[in-house]
Amino acid sequence: MTDADTTTAAADWRAWQESWDRQQEWYMPDREERFRVMLDMVEALVGTAPRVLDLACGTGSITARLFDRFPDATSTGVDLDPALLAIAEGTFEGDERVSFVTADLKDPEWTARLPYDSYDAVLTATALHWLHRDPLADLYGHIAGLVRDGGVFMNADHMIDDTTPRINAAERALRHARMDRAKRDGALDWAQWWQLAAKDPVLAGPTARRFEIYGEHADGDMPPAAWHARVLREKGFGEARPVWCSPSDTLLLALK
Ligand SMILES: C[S@@+](CC[C@H](N)C(=O)[O-])C[C@H]1O[C@@H](n2cnc3c(N)ncnc32)[C@H](O)[C@@H]1O
Repeated sequence: MTDADTTTAAADWRAWQESWDRQQEWYMPDREERFRVMLDMVEALVGTAPRVLDLACGTGSITARLFDRFPDATSTGVDLDPALLAIAEGTFEGDERVSFVTADLKDPEWTARLPYDSYDAVLTATALHWLHRDPLADLYGHIAGLVRDGGVFMNADHMIDDTTPRINAAERALRHARMDRAKRDGALDWAQWWQLAAKDPVLAGPTARRFEIYGEHADGDMPPAAWHARVLREKGFGEARPVWCSPSDTLLLALK
């Protein structure tokens, strides 16, 4: 590869990161605020040089914000999607603070692939609703085994309180009306973003493989925050509660 080729590839990864962020923000306008509070709680509980597991890392969104704020942090990104992992690996190429691991979080042996057996913080966003409750409860058991005593787990995701159906419906209607307006103004949704990836010469192969693995999107559950907190305590965390929420999303923190 020539220097010019390398520069072009690096620029492409940045562009893919930015278009991924815009696509995710179409669903979650408060996404950056959620990441900011997540890192505030990292700083409060495990300090500014943590060893982090970026769980279901996608393109490495959490790791990127972690390194921007805490340059002495280290990270392991784990995911199953070959296209998103290709973007993550391209983005962080040469950065010795991070390594990426391909694993299925439903595989009972997935933790054996990690480079460390203990982490200060396991962080995840917009991902665990891809799992049903039983595999998610099993995953919480594995996470409890990975977080050191005094360490944290944080999950930012859609957590639906099904005791408030009218509130949920009204919130959803407003959110979708805003999304429809943004789409008319050119915002890309999930399916359109993947159509672009499938046309990219570098990402076409891994994108075809990710569709073989997942189809369009895996099917899972969105239990309420109270369910997550209860199961995390049952699996070995000492405390667990939301530390941030929007009308549609929650950031749940569990302390070992
Ligand atoms: C919507 S993306 C979010 C990615 C990233 N956390 C972010 O906030 O941008 C959901 C991620 O969960 C990953 N994921 C879902 N189920 C998984 C599983 N069983 N094993 C590993 N990764 C999984 C997907 O591959 C995808 O990268």
